[in-house]
Amino acid sequence: MDTIYTVIKGDHTDEEQIRRAGDILKAGGLVAFPTETVYGLGGDALNPDSSKKIYAAKGRPSDNPLIVHICRWEDIYRVAEEVTEEAGRLAEAFWPGPLTMILKKKDTVPAETTGGLDTVAVRFPSHPVARRLIEAAGGFVAAPSANSSGKPSPTMAEYVAEDMNGRIDMILDGGAVGIGLESTIVDVSGHKPTILRPGYVTQEMLEKVLGEVSVDRTILDGSTAQRPKAPGMKYRHYAPKGELSIVEGDPEAVVERINSLCACAAAGGKKTGIIATDETFSRYKAASVKSVGSRGDEEAIARSLYRILREFDDEEIEVMYTESFPAYGMGQAIMNRLLKAAGHRIIRV
Ligand code: TXA
Ligand code: MG
Repeated sequence: MDTIYTVIKGDHTDEEQIRRAGDILKAGGLVAFPTETVYGLGGDALNPDSSKKIYAAKGRPSDNPLIVHICRWEDIYRVAEEVTEEAGRLAEAFWPGPLTMILKKKDTVPAETTGGLDTVAVRFPSHPVARRLIEAAGGFVAAPSANSSGKPSPTMAEYVAEDMNGRIDMILDGGAVGIGLESTIVDVSGHKPTILRPGYVTQEMLEKVLGEVSVDRTILDGSTAQRPKAPGMKYRHYAPKGELSIVEGDPEAVVERINSLCACAAAGGKKTGIIATDETFSRYKAASVKSVGSRGDEEAIARSLYRILREFDDEEIEVMYTESFPAYGMGQAIMNRLLKAAGHRIIRV
């Protein structure tokens, strides 16, 4: 299949392109589009065949449910049963925006979309292209991140094209995304609200609205035998081709240890890479050293992380080391993604 690639220019031609993309979705096709978090790979959420196509295009296991994207708050009632008072408060505070809620599902949502679960993930994104596309598609767009399964989520349309060219009908290029990590997922279908995947909307922000919120233990703890509540979190996503390890401890000791580990790997003939910060960048030696941003700017770190992992893949880096970050605020999401990319390999110094 030929994939149509369209740049959203911010002028009068956009309307026609978005209408065309909406028609493709209504007809059961697939369109990748920008959201404020990462690029999504959209299909009609109420059409089981579209959901099957999404799994096939990504090479994703079909027990891993999709998020249903909406463009009007009221539409939540069309896909979710028992929209709790908590869900209402969260929507008020964070929608449209980078928050996904898990609720009991209605029969309108096919089992193919929810991976057979009796709950549904619902998100109302804030990105204007996403909102216009969802509307043009009839209101309900199932969209996982638009990467092939096992790769970092795409933060630019070029990365979507790398993974999806020839596999989907259309790519809408709306430029680089603002956040760079996937939405926060919070389960409000049970007794106690629980974070299943950390993101831009932090535990602290959720607790201001809801009171106490728990966090699925598996998010930062690789040793637990417990199964993650979000089926997708059990997979080692975000995995670079090379072997990544996190080095944690006193900042001075971390720089020294990373340099000596890289020297060792290089002596063994391996191509090495380092994820540094602005503060430490100039002190490292490796085949490829990249700064993920300043330590003081978590948002910049979140925005750059997946790009750096993809660049290391392109450069065929075989052994990689990264500094560690404090796991609170948005740091919880950054560390969650790093731990997954590293297969929970941590070196403490
Ligand atoms: O920011 C985002 O959320 C992006 C953009 C495109 O909106 N989408 C995204 O989708 O990250 P995906 O499919 O890559 O991740 C969805 C996660 C998976 O871990 C999945 O298991 C979980 O949400 N999930 C979906 N439905 C669920 C449900 N009913 N119960 C628990 N977890 C669910
Ligand atoms: Mg994903």
